[in-house]
Amino acid sequence: MLIDIIAGARPNFIKISPLIAAIRKKQNEGINIQFRLIHTGQHYDKNMSDSFFEQLDIPNPDFNLGVGSGTQAVQTAGIMVGYEAILLKSPSNLCVVVGDVTSTMACAISAKKLLIPVAHIEGGIRSGDMTMPEEVNRIVTDSITDIFFTTTTWAGDNLLSSGVSKESIHFVGNVMIDTLRKYESAFSKPSLWDIENLSKGNYFVLTLHRPANVDAAEKLKLTISEIVKGTNPNLVIFPVHPRTRKILEELEISFESLKYSDPLSYLEFNYLVKNAKGVITDSGGITEETTVMGVPCITLRDNTERPETCSIGTNELIGTDPSAISPALKKLQDGNWKHGGIPEKWDGKAAERIVDKLIQHFDLRLF
Ligand code: UD1
Repeated sequence: MLIDIIAGARPNFIKISPLIAAIRKKQNEGINIQFRLIHTGQHYDKNMSDSFFEQLDIPNPDFNLGVGSGTQAVQTAGIMVGYEAILLKSPSNLCVVVGDVTSTMACAISAKKLLIPVAHIEGGIRSGDMTMPEEVNRIVTDSITDIFFTTTTWAGDNLLSSGVSKESIHFVGNVMIDTLRKYESAFSKPSLWDIENLSKGNYFVLTLHRPANVDAAEKLKLTISEIVKGTNPNLVIFPVHPRTRKILEELEISFESLKYSDPLSYLEFNYLVKNAKGVITDSGGITEETTVMGVPCITLRDNTERPETCSIGTNELIGTDPSAISPALKKLQDGNWKHGGIPEKWDGKAAERIVDKLIQHFDLRLF
């Protein structure tokens, strides 16, 4: 049994690490399950890619498609052509894709058209917002997926109502949380911790990269100044995504309490999050991590494909209008933020459940 594991962008690397560890465990038990790791090259910087491979024990990819930056269509087409060429030369038995990035959808299409079954980890989540490329990626991927692994029962219900059969949906939990649990004890202080005199609960973490928040210069300026005002007297640490950096450089926004940094490695970033007073973000994955670590999280989006982070966890959606920032931060600064709980099966064992299901599904035997 040969499985292709697809990874292209930063959040994917965090999700494939426990899957690879779980497959290796079964290999050591004598189960005939092999994998090839395909890196599409969607993210390619050391900070966006290599550091995750090093820290999260991910082996060197067997193939790197080197697609790099480009429009949605350029990236999608480049990944599809590159992966198809690999499959034509040496087909695999299953293509496993994770999450909702362009690489997820592109590889699922290439595999499916060559009659190779597709498994989607984190299938079924929906924001309902078709202006996000990720929502299109989710819907297209799920429409051709054969085996779904879901993080919540809600995701499974979404799939059922779109006509997917109950037998092909497996509620396994959250692989991103597997990684968090496994590496939590290895989280490490970034160098800026001492430079900025940080201590537990005396700073906020900010991340922004979605077009709705960063592509309009004036709005981004206003968003950041509202955040600086509302977090006073605390520092705001802002690890800047490459997409946002390009725009910030043009704007020259600077405040004494706002500290920019390059994108941080996994262990350093999560050290910062774990010890922060709060997180302000437009990411999806970070809202899952703050939920599990019990850190207050303000999300600058109108919708989320991860509603459990709000209904169960510490996350609150406040939309993208900068005027909503001040009241939310006041509530947090006054100590009135909810404490939250942890969603079902977010227990660090999702990848093991996935591999068990695959072994069952493909009836894999010992050597
Ligand atoms: C992608 C994902 C998004 C995910 C995010 C995490 C899609 C549609 N979006 O968005 O879901 O939350 O990754 O980071 O797949 N760039 C670099 N170096 C890199 C990677 C990118 O400089 O290593 C630059 C590119 O030149 C581009 C910009 O960052 O201008 C955006 O990269 P891209 O992969 O297109 O999408 P993201 O915004 O990162």
